[in-house]
Amino acid sequence: MDRVFSGIQPTGDMHLGNYLGALRNWVRMQTQYECLYCVVDLHAITLWQEPADLSKHILEVTAGLVASGLDPKTNIIFNQSRVSAHAELAWVFNCVARLGWLNRMTQFKDKAGKNRENASVGLYAYPNLMAADILAYKATHVPVGEDQKQHLELARDIAQKFNNDYGVEHFPQPEPVIQGPATRVMSLRDGTKKMSKSDPSEASRITMTDSADDIAQKIRRAKTDMEPLPDSAKGLEARPEAANLIGIYAALSDTSADAVCQKFAGAQFSAFKEALTELAVASLAPIGTKMADLMKNQDYLDEILIDGANRARAIAEPILAETYKIVGLRR
Ligand code: TRP
Repeated sequence: MDRVFSGIQPTGDMHLGNYLGALRNWVRMQTQYECLYCVVDLHAITLWQEPADLSKHILEVTAGLVASGLDPKTNIIFNQSRVSAHAELAWVFNCVARLGWLNRMTQFKDKAGKNRENASVGLYAYPNLMAADILAYKATHVPVGEDQKQHLELARDIAQKFNNDYGVEHFPQPEPVIQGPATRVMSLRDGTKKMSKSDPSEASRITMTDSADDIAQKIRRAKTDMEPLPDSAKGLEARPEAANLIGIYAALSDTSADAVCQKFAGAQFSAFKEALTELAVASLAPIGTKMADLMKNQDYLDEILIDGANRARAIAEPILAETYKIVGLRR
C-alpha cells in the first residue's frame, strides 16, 4: 500500500515558495494516495518560537492547507505534537542514528551557523524526528524539496539500520518524490537565495495572504537585470532573477520556462511583470481570501486537526507498539 507523508513547519507566513514547492503537489497527490499532511510544530521549536505566534501559525498553516485545496476528509491533516508516536519513535531513532551521520547534515550547519555550541540539541536531532514522522506511518512516498533530500536519505539509513540491527523487515525504505524543477522559488530580492519565511526582507517573498496590491508591488519591485526576455530558457543561464520570475510564471500557468520565454521573447521585464502580476493575483488571491475566512473560524480548524490526529494515531500506535516489541521493551 502506498502512503504519502509530508510536513510543513508553522514558523511564519506561508508564501509562494511553499505553495508552488509543496502545497500544489500535495493537492495533486491527494487523489492518488492515502496522504498524511502534518504541521510539524515539534520541529518548529528547534528554534525559539514566541508561544502566541506559534499557536497562531499552527492554525494559519492549517488554513493554508485547506484553502489550497486539500480535503480534510480524504487526507489526514494534523499537527505533530498531538500524536505522541512522533516523539516516542524519535527517541528510538536517537539510539539508532549515529553521531557521524548527523554531523554530515548540511542543514544543521546552515541553521546553527558559527555558534554551533549554542544550537539546541533538538536542532541537531531534527532529522531523527523527521525520520520518525515518516516511519511512524511506514510511509512509502515523501514529497519534499531538494533541500530535504539529505534528511530523507538519513531516514532510509535509519530504517535500514533498525531492520539490520534487529533482524527484521519492519520499516520500509521511503522514497523521496522530488518536486518539479520550477518549484524552487527564489527570493524576489536575490535570485540565488531560496524564498524563505526567515528572510528579514518582506519584499523578498509573496505570502499567501498578500493583497492584490501587495503582490503587484512586490513583483514590480522584484530584482531583474537590464536585458529583455530571451526566446528560450537557455538564455536564462547566469540570470538568476530573470530565471526565477519566468520559473514562477511557468509554474503558475503549468507550462515550461521554455514556453514562457517563447511567449514573451524580446519583451521588457516591465511588461512581463504586469502579466506575472495578473497571473499571481488570479492564482493566489482566492486562496488568501479563503485562508482569511477560515481563520475567522478557529474552532473549525482545531476540529480538523483533532480529527486528523485521531486518524493518524490509529495508524501510528500499532506501528510504534510493534517497534517497542521488536526492541524488547515491555509496554
Ligand atoms: N523538514 C521539513 C522541512 O523543513 C519538514 C518536515 C518535517 C518533513 N517532517 C517531515 C517533510 C517529514 C517531509 C516528511 O521542509
